[in-house]
Amino acid sequence: MAYENILVETRGGVGLITLNRPKALNALNSELMRELAAAIDGFEADRNVLCMVLTGSEKAFAAGADIKEMAARDFPDTYTTDYMSGLWERASTCRKPIIAAVAGYALGGGCELAMQCDFIIAADNAKVGQPEVNLGTIPGIGGSQRLTRAVGKSKAMDMILTARNMDAQEAERAGLVARVVPLASLMEETMKAAEKIASLSLPAILMAKEAVNRSFEVTLAEGVRFERRLFHSTFGVADRKEGMTAFAEKRKPNFIHK
Ligand code: CAA
Repeated sequence: MAYENILVETRGGVGLITLNRPKALNALNSELMRELAAAIDGFEADRNVLCMVLTGSEKAFAAGADIKEMAARDFPDTYTTDYMSGLWERASTCRKPIIAAVAGYALGGGCELAMQCDFIIAADNAKVGQPEVNLGTIPGIGGSQRLTRAVGKSKAMDMILTARNMDAQEAERAGLVARVVPLASLMEETMKAAEKIASLSLPAILMAKEAVNRSFEVTLAEGVRFERRLFHSTFGVADRKEGMTAFAEKRKPNFIHK
């Protein structure tokens, strides 16, 4: 498929998607989100891809949903078409791991898209925030929920009600981003993390991701029970036996994703 707003490539077992609307600082419009969802679908279906990375440019991961596209919409239109549901949430329904590599602005929908990914590695020039109230609107692709779960109520309220941005260091202190790295090494560090994940057993990686995500949906007791059952399930996977045998034999495991 030919894309106009994103670049898509594979590097070994890693599928890399780069948002590419430089003139609009990668603002997310419907076409870009359609392409992003299609690219994720493609990597999900590709047996050779074991981890994905989503990134933007050095200046902007994404400066938000496309304000110019949104400006003319009205309530009946957004409500009846369930605007920003479905395709706009595709990264959050991805089964394979997806890492956001964020440099520059990740504002509004850009911050929300990064938060839909499994974790965020930020460059030291990253600026993240939910400034929608400046436009007379509010976050629309999960920001009020995911930011609050990531940083807690007080800081989420501060960010969403005052529209201020966090720099990379504050975002890391607050737990929104997993790590901050120098801008020049953002892709190298992110690819290292992605390659490590891609070198592991896919069933174990999918189960680990599913277990962590479950913690947002259920009580602690139910979450621990769910984890325990998945843990038991790894004993039905050949890679689990191989991983433990390889450790005992002091050699590298040879995972076959079965
Ligand atoms: N939508 C549409 N176009 C955008 C955009 C956006 N979110 N952000 C930037 N652009 C466009 C600008 O209009 C400009 O285009 P032109 O050259 O045609 O004028 C181009 O990108 C470059 O932007 P700037 O000249 O503004 O660049 P800057 O370096 O001076 O400022 C910025 C950068 C501070 C990020 C500024 O662009 C900005 O404030 N952008 C909007 C941020 C924002 O409010 N995001 C939230 C959007 S609402 C949302 O996302 C809703 C939701 O929850 C789903």
